[in-house]
Amino acid sequence: MTPAAIRIDDLAFRWRRSRPLCVRLQQLTLAAGASLFLHGPSGAGKTTLLNLIGGVLLPETGRVELLGQPLGELSAAGRDAFRAEHLGFIFQQFNLIPYLSVRDNVLLPCRFSRRRAERAGDPVAAAARLLAALDLEPALAAAPAAELSVGQQQRVAAARALIGRPEIIIADEPTSALDASRQEAFIDLLLAEARAAGSAVVFVSHDQRLAGHFDATLELVNPGAAA
Ligand SMILES: Nc1ncnc2c1ncn2[C@@H]1O[C@H](COP(=O)(O)OP(=O)(O)O)[C@@H](O)[C@H]1O
Ligand SMILES: [Mg+2]
Repeated sequence: MTPAAIRIDDLAFRWRRSRPLCVRLQQLTLAAGASLFLHGPSGAGKTTLLNLIGGVLLPETGRVELLGQPLGELSAAGRDAFRAEHLGFIFQQFNLIPYLSVRDNVLLPCRFSRRRAERAGDPVAAAARLLAALDLEPALAAAPAAELSVGQQQRVAAARALIGRPEIIIADEPTSALDASRQEAFIDLLLAEARAAGSAVVFVSHDQRLAGHFDATLELVNPGAAA
């Protein structure tokens, strides 16, 4: 049986021992290839939870398992390698490297993970295909990322997350700079590509109206703030 993309049990996290809990999550299972919409107000702990899922942060108690691998059993270097191989991140500010071309930004995960490069087949062709699928003109591939509009940067960030078909795509409020109809168009493109690649998606937004695009929804509340 294919292991779940993400399985979380009894998770608790606080930033400092003297601080209240920031994230508490009893159970979450996201099946391979499924999509989850994670919402909650600013400060709810959404980004913190994504960093726990990515193994950037470690929980105080509980367990995060990705693709059957408990992250707590890996060293820090092992978690970095696991993340590069199996996760694609779309950050809120996109984090493109401004002086690199659009194409080289998309190819970055293939430089950090041989597995991603192999799964991409011909990485340059895969980058071109993804950019086209996300509605970016071929002529933009050679342009520095710094020259793009916000909407274009967002689609480049999505292509970078998708290249090499990672099993899990994580998107942290990547649409907040766009108007509603463009947000929805972006989500549909992202989900279609993720589905084609068999990637599970965790998509964070404070905008609950977007929930209908996803298989499941989770509302996050900050246990410290609620107390
Ligand atoms: N690096 C950090 N150090 C200490 N506290 C942090 C840090 N990052 C976030 N927090 C706190 O954790 C809480 C949740 O933040 P965050 O996960 O960014 O929420 P969201 O993404 O839902 O807006 C907030 O109270 C925030 O101040
Ligand atoms: Mg956040």
